[in-house]
Amino acid sequence: MREAEFSELVKDIREQVRYLKELGVDAISVDLPEEVFSVKTPRPSDRDLDQIVKAPNYSGSTEPERTIAFPKLIRSDSAPKRPGSRLSALPSLKRRNVANPEVTLHRLESVGSARDVEMKTTSATIETSSRALPIMDETTDTITSIREEIGECKRCPLHALGRKQIVHTTGNFNADLMFIGEAPGADEDEQGFPFVGRAGQLLTKIIESIGLKREEVCIGNINRCRPPGNRKPEPVETAACRPFILREIAVVKPRVVVVLGATAAHNLLQVKTPITKLRGEFHDYFGVKVMPTFHPAYLLRDPHKKREVWEDMKKVRELLNS
Ligand code: URA
Repeated sequence: MREAEFSELVKDIREQVRYLKELGVDAISVDLPEEVFSVKTPRPSDRDLDQIVKAPNYSGSTEPERTIAFPKLIRSDSAPKRPGSRLSALPSLKRRNVANPEVTLHRLESVGSARDVEMKTTSATIETSSRALPIMDETTDTITSIREEIGECKRCPLHALGRKQIVHTTGNFNADLMFIGEAPGADEDEQGFPFVGRAGQLLTKIIESIGLKREEVCIGNINRCRPPGNRKPEPVETAACRPFILREIAVVKPRVVVVLGATAAHNLLQVKTPITKLRGEFHDYFGVKVMPTFHPAYLLRDPHKKREVWEDMKKVRELLNS
């Protein structure tokens, strides 16, 4: 390997390590495969840390058998932050175009109630090796028609409990990947967009960690109005609002939905299993793969859980790449 190539490789690894550190991965237990440095082996084309993380001795634990020290590679807190990771520019995922909802979501007619569409989604099935799973019907909804139907919503008590505005789903309505959280917080209520506060900034990093940009995915919540004091939405509140996000899933038809936290997971999958048991495996929602993982707000309280989210997101990336 020529010197220039080697230094380029080191630069890449440095950036990838920095990125993982931002996600809270403090140590990497791994023996670097010899081939990475072999002259015969072509440079890895996918420059994320898969090569390292998947290496035979990777323990997946934060207590490594052997931690490789990268004294020069790890950014000190005082070092200037670079504007963004090149990881997000890598063509690691097949992408669909970012749709402009104002242009593409032009049908304004509203068809049926939220409940109707929930019922409609049960009508078809696909055969899998072990069981038949119901899949979603085509919907005549559009994002615009759903928003119009929501209107100045007063369907649940939250409208009278201090909400400033309704926070609608945002992003790419043609996305392969959709994120669903619980309900807006103070920042979202103020700005009118989901996940724009501290948890939202962490969500952006999580999205970028799998090589996507935030604007390439679709982001919404089970509840569109802020519960006072950021309490969990009550069942009567989720029941009133949830049908609209379900209808949006039928419009977007993502390949994967990542549900963030227990409230989102329970409301989408209609189970009560703890999030610690649900996360890490794909579940099915009418033919859409659902990956439950920890809520970014929880990660802010317990950064050690970022490792699990990283593991979940790698599975999401693999599925999207397949
Ligand atoms: N938490 C959520 O669940 N949703 C948001 O939009 C923001 C924080």
